[in-house]
Amino acid sequence: MDRFSSAAASLGETLFNDVILSKQRTTSCASCHQPGLAFTDGNPLAKGNEPTDAGVRNAPTLLNRLFSSFQGWSGNAASLDRQALLPIPAAHEINLPIAEAIQRLTSNATYNSRFQSVYGQAPNVENVAAALASFQATQFTPRNRVDEYRAGNRTVLTASEARGLLLFEGKARCSGCHAGQNYTDESFRNNGLATNTDIGRADQTGRDRDFRLQKVATLRELQSTEPFMHDGSIDTLLEVITAYNAGGLGDPMADTDIRPLELSNQEMLDLEAFLKALSAN
Ligand code: HEC
Ligand code: HEC
Repeated sequence: MDRFSSAAASLGETLFNDVILSKQRTTSCASCHQPGLAFTDGNPLAKGNEPTDAGVRNAPTLLNRLFSSFQGWSGNAASLDRQALLPIPAAHEINLPIAEAIQRLTSNATYNSRFQSVYGQAPNVENVAAALASFQATQFTPRNRVDEYRAGNRTVLTASEARGLLLFEGKARCSGCHAGQNYTDESFRNNGLATNTDIGRADQTGRDRDFRLQKVATLRELQSTEPFMHDGSIDTLLEVITAYNAGGLGDPMADTDIRPLELSNQEMLDLEAFLKALSAN
C-alpha cells in the first residue's frame, strides 16, 4: 500500500475536503477540522451539517498526528487509518455506511481513476482509510519562537515569555503532563477541569481506573484551537491558567499533580505570554 507519496496525500486531501463522504452531501472532514484553524472548528462541541449531527466533544487539532500513539480524546483509535473510518459511519458525524461511501467513490469516474493510479485498485475500505491517513500524516505544526529559543537563539522570546517558560517547567507544573516536542506525554489524565459527565478513556477500555481521563492535549497552535478542552468549556488561555492555578474545579478524582499553584497575577500573565508564543502567528 502506498503510504507516503505526495499522490496518496493529495488524494487524501481531496477526500478530506469532499462532502461526498456524508449522507446528505453536506459535511466533509474539513467542516469540523478546518485547515485555517489548525484543523479545529471554533465551536465548543464539533458541529457538522448533517441532520443527525450532534456534537459531543470538541474537535481536536489534526496537526502532528504522526507523533501520537492514540487518536481522539479517549484514544478511540491507535492509527490514523483506523481513525479515518470512525467519523464516516458515525450518526452524529457524517453518517454514511462505509459500503455506501465506497460505492459512491467507485461510481465517480475521477475518484476511480485516481485510486487506480495511486493504489492500482478501485476504492476500497483500506485504501480510502490509507489516503485520508496519508494526508493527515503530512500535516505538522510550523516552527515557533519557543523552538528557536530552545535551539539557542536567546533573543527571540520577550522577558515575560522567557519567565513563562521557566514557570511552565517549574512552579506551574505544566510540563509534568505537557512534555516533549509536542507538549504532551501522550498519557490519559484527569486535569480537574471537566464540566460534563464524559467518562473519557473508560469509554474505550471499560476500566474503572480510566474513568474521566482524557488525552493530554498538545499546546502548539493554541491561538487557533479555542475554545479549549474536550468539552470546549474554556474560552481563553488566561481562564485556563486561572483554573489550573486554583487547583482545578474541585473534582475529587483529579490527578494528584493538579493542586493550587499560588501563581501571582504577573506569573499568570507570563505563563499566558509563553503559551501564546507556542503558536507560529
Ligand atoms: C461533525 C464533526 C466532525 C467531522 C465531520 C469529522 N470529525 Fe474528526 N473529530 C471530531 C471530534 C469531535 C473528534 C474528537 C472525538 C473523540 O475524541 O471522541 C475528532 C477526532 C478526530 C481525530 C483524532 C485527533 C486527535 O488529535 O486525537 C482525527 C485524526 C480525526 N478526527 C479525523 C477526521 C477525519 C479523517 C474525518 C473525515 C473522514 C473527520 N475527522 C470528520 C469531529 C469531527
Ligand atoms: C495532570 C496532567 C496535567 C497537568 C499538570 C496540566 N495539564 Fe493541561 N491538560 C491535561 C489534559 C488531560 C488536558 C485535556 C483535558 C480535557 O480535554 O478535558 C489538558 C488540556 C490543556 C489545555 C487545552 C488544550 C486544548 O487544545 O484544548 C491547555 C491550554 C492546557 N492544558 C494548559 C496547561 C497549563 C498551562 C498547565 C500548567 C499550569 C497544565 N495544562 C497542566 C493535563 C494536564
